[in-house]
Amino acid sequence: MPLTRRTLLATAASTLAAPALPRFAWADDTPILRAAPAVAQIAPKGYGTTPIWSYGGMIPGPEVRVRAGERVRRRFVNDLPQPSAVHWHGIRITNAMDGAAGFTQDPVPPGGTFGYDFVAPDPGTYWYHAHARSWEQVSRGLAGPLIVEEAEVWTGLEGAATREATLMLADWRLQEDAALHEASFGDLHDWSHAGRLGNTVTINGSIDAAIPVRRGERLRLRLINSATARVMPLRLPGLSPVLIALDGHPVALRAAEEIVLAPAQRADVVVDVSPEMDAPLPILMDTGRDEWIEIGALVDGGETPLPPQDGPVRALPMTMDHALGLTAPQEEVLRMEGGAMGGLRRAHLGGVDRDFRELVAARRVWAFNGVAGDMDAPAFRAALGRTVRMRLVNDTAWAHGIHLHGHHFEVLSRGGRPDPHRDRRDTVLVMPDEPVEIAFIADNPGRWLLHCHMLGHQASGMLTWFEVG
Ligand code: C2O
Ligand code: CU
Repeated sequence: MPLTRRTLLATAASTLAAPALPRFAWADDTPILRAAPAVAQIAPKGYGTTPIWSYGGMIPGPEVRVRAGERVRRRFVNDLPQPSAVHWHGIRITNAMDGAAGFTQDPVPPGGTFGYDFVAPDPGTYWYHAHARSWEQVSRGLAGPLIVEEAEVWTGLEGAATREATLMLADWRLQEDAALHEASFGDLHDWSHAGRLGNTVTINGSIDAAIPVRRGERLRLRLINSATARVMPLRLPGLSPVLIALDGHPVALRAAEEIVLAPAQRADVVVDVSPEMDAPLPILMDTGRDEWIEIGALVDGGETPLPPQDGPVRALPMTMDHALGLTAPQEEVLRMEGGAMGGLRRAHLGGVDRDFRELVAARRVWAFNGVAGDMDAPAFRAALGRTVRMRLVNDTAWAHGIHLHGHHFEVLSRGGRPDPHRDRRDTVLVMPDEPVEIAFIADNPGRWLLHCHMLGHQASGMLTWFEVG
C-alpha cells in the first residue's frame, strides 16, 4: 500500500512506537527543494572537485520560475548537518514565509521539512538562499535564482528581448585542493573588513561559463550577485547593455557600460548580439584592484543568425506605481558603525552597554545605531501603510549592502544629491561617507529583518529588524 498522508497519520495515531517511516511519503504534489551536501566541479578539471552544500544537488540551485501573481510552493527538505531555512530574497512575501530562521520561523533541523507557500506579487529577477548561518551556508552554495515573469508576456513584443538568460554569480574561496577554505568560515578578521572574499568567481557554477547566444538576437540577461561579500563591477564590452531593471524593478532605461552589483543585488540588462559576431564576447569583472578579469563569455550557439535588432529597447511595464506620500513621512536613521579602522568603542548587546573588548569576545564588531545585533527590540515600528523615509549613514571605512526584508524602497538621494533615477530596490550599496536616503511604504505587516548583505557583517552586528502594523 503506498503511503499517503492519511495512512501516515493513521499509523502515527494507532501505534505509539511506530516504526521509522520513509521520510518522503507525502501524498501531495508539492515540489521538493532539498538541501544536502553535494560535490561540484568548480576548479578547472584536473584540480579536483569541491564538496559543497546545495539545493537539488546543483549550483546554483534549481531555478524557481513563476508568473507574477502566481504561487510558489516548495517543500523544503533539510538534509544538511545544520538547521536551515529558505529566504526568498526580495519577494514581498507574507511574513511567515520569509524564511528568516529563528525569527520568522523555527530553524528546520537536520532531517526536518518545512512547507513554503506564497504568492510572488511582483515580476522580476529574485533569488533564494539559506537564512541560517548564512555566512557559512550561502558560501557553501545554498542559493538559487527565483524568476518572476511579467504577468503579460514581454518577450516577443516589439523592441523587447527575443530571449533571456539567467546569470548567477558567486564567489568561492577555494584551497589548492579545490575544497572550500573552511578554516576561514567565521573569521573575525574577514568580518571586520570587507567580509569573507573568495578567490574564484563563477557564473552559474562555472569558472568559464560559455553562455550560448544567437547572432542578431536581443537578449535579456538577468544578473544576480549571490556572493556573500564581494561587490561585483561588471562590463560587457562591445555589447552596449541597456539597463531595464534593478533588483527586479523596471527602471527608466539607460546605458549601463558598468554594472555594479553588491551582494544580493540584481540587474536586468538587454544586449543586442551582432549578426556578425565572430568571437566570444567576454563578461568582465573588476577584482577590486582596477583589474578587469574575464569571468565568462557569450558564445555563438550555432543557430542561424537573426536580422539585426535596430529599434529602441522596450521598457518593462511599470508595476508598483503607488505614490510615496513624502509630505510627512516617518523619519528614521540607520547609522552603520564599527569594523576595522572604524573605532567602535561601545555598543549595546544583550541590553547592556559593552566596551570594545566585550564586543570582540562576543564576535560583534559592527553596530547599527549603537546596537551590535541585539534582537530584543526593533530599530523602529511603523503603522501599516505609513511612508518611512530612512537615512542610511555609513560611519565605517567599508561598503555595505543594506537589505530590507518584505519591502521595496525607492532611492531618493545619494551623497546629499537627489538621485535622478529614484530606482526601486530591496538592497542598496552604501559607501563610506555617502549617505543614502531611501523611502518605502510599510505595507507588509509583520516583523522584518534589516541587515547588511555582506553576510559576515550581518553575523557580527549589522542586523536589526522593524515591525509593521
Ligand atoms: Cu538575502 Cu536577510 O537576506
Ligand atoms: Cu556590511
